[in-house]
Amino acid sequence: MSGNGVPDTGTVPAYVPPAPKALGFPANLARLVKNNLGIIPQAAYEQPLVMTDSFPKLAFITGPEFVETVLKRKAGDFPKGRLQNETLEPLFGNAMISSEGHDWKWQRAITAPLFRHEELLRYVPVMRQSAEDQIAAWKAEGGTGFRAINRDMFRVAFSVISRTMLEGGADDVIKVIETGHAAYFGHVNWWILYKMLGLPGWLPRPGGAVMRLQEKKIHEAVTSLVRSRKADAETGDDLLARLVRGRDPETGEGMSDERLVNNIIAFLVAGYDTTALALSWALYLLSLNPLWVERARAEVNRVAGDSPIGPEHLNDLKVVEQIINETLRLYPTAPIVVRDILEDADFGGTIVPKGTIGLVPIYAIHRHRSFWQEPNRFDPARFDPETGTKPNRYQFLPFGAGPRICLGAAFTMIEAKVILATFLREARFELKPGYMAEPVGQMFLTMREDIPMRVSWV
Ligand code: HEM
Repeated sequence: MSGNGVPDTGTVPAYVPPAPKALGFPANLARLVKNNLGIIPQAAYEQPLVMTDSFPKLAFITGPEFVETVLKRKAGDFPKGRLQNETLEPLFGNAMISSEGHDWKWQRAITAPLFRHEELLRYVPVMRQSAEDQIAAWKAEGGTGFRAINRDMFRVAFSVISRTMLEGGADDVIKVIETGHAAYFGHVNWWILYKMLGLPGWLPRPGGAVMRLQEKKIHEAVTSLVRSRKADAETGDDLLARLVRGRDPETGEGMSDERLVNNIIAFLVAGYDTTALALSWALYLLSLNPLWVERARAEVNRVAGDSPIGPEHLNDLKVVEQIINETLRLYPTAPIVVRDILEDADFGGTIVPKGTIGLVPIYAIHRHRSFWQEPNRFDPARFDPETGTKPNRYQFLPFGAGPRICLGAAFTMIEAKVILATFLREARFELKPGYMAEPVGQMFLTMREDIPMRVSWV
């Protein structure tokens, strides 16, 4: 056993799903509020399709063929739909992430080129700088005590997203997001529950006022930023400037101010939490698996020597990439994807009735007993192209799949590689003895309590 009571085999804590018989209304809805992983039944970790009789009816779709049908082959028949879009609407309005049909398509066409791998390499120096700033902050504090490492990762990820998207600083926006963020997501499952039950948005709910105030503040701050930045957008190189210049390839139409604001908010929120949490989970897993720290550190030294991590090193940071993939397998930071089932749908002879909410529980797919050997074991070698068994495309999908696949996947992978490589070369991360992380789904996959770690120097 390691000092944390976790077996040295690399097995890490999983969310323990409830017994199937206990999964009725309102028990599963109460679980949703506490931890959205709680609505995933045990059977979804073992079977390709599981339906519940609860209200509303839920279908957990985990079989690779079925997942492909829903997310890709027949994506048009299974829209992101009411639950997801209505849940996200107050924050993201008519942004691409919460739009459908033509409205989604032209926004995706404008934004997709900005998020291509080659385009994003220009941001590597900013990403590295954010990591180095965090190292400098740790050194300046000089303390050797345990600190909430996940909070530090939020600071680093926010520094990256704000410097790449809103170059030159956006202090007001940063302040608003940083201060209201935890309270907002702490209450979000109540909002999802209300939407699941079809309750109107004006009905009082726990945290409703806090969430509305935060939505208003974010919209005000980003609106004033977009207005002030529009004038210099012709020349700027950050994502905001490039978004302002973007045109629908078919119609030549650009984005209205309102849409720009909504999309910027969506990129900030979707891109910041998910990546910060992925980095936090990676450091947590590494602190329990020192062998992989050594392998990654040796690789970084071999590939980059003493020079700062640059775009030219990324392809060779293979162990670092395997660690990130294995982290996103065990802790996919967007743990559940939702789709509407508009018509009766046939999944291998089982009919899922229309009106059922379709859930693709990425968390359960990534720990599914039929797809993974020792699913709860941390083993980045699974992703080694030479020795590992390559998972089926629909068994490993931290960024989703099909037309609605994550816009920021390449951004995240580059960012996580640059930051982890920069950290591992200089720092050691020691987990407080006795701490075990409990994964909690609150739209994103967070941890019940902060991760206490001590940082020291290599
Ligand atoms: C670890 C990091 C991330 C994870 C795990 C993640 C995961 C996901 C997933 C699973 C989806 C698909 C949702 C669905 O099909 O319903 C998605 C969509 C999306 N993500 Fe990410 N994401 C991450 C980082 C980012 C970043 C950095 C950005 C932007 C800067 C971003 C922007 C978006 C957008 C705009 C969409 C909507 C795409 C569309 O509807 O066409 N994400 N993400």
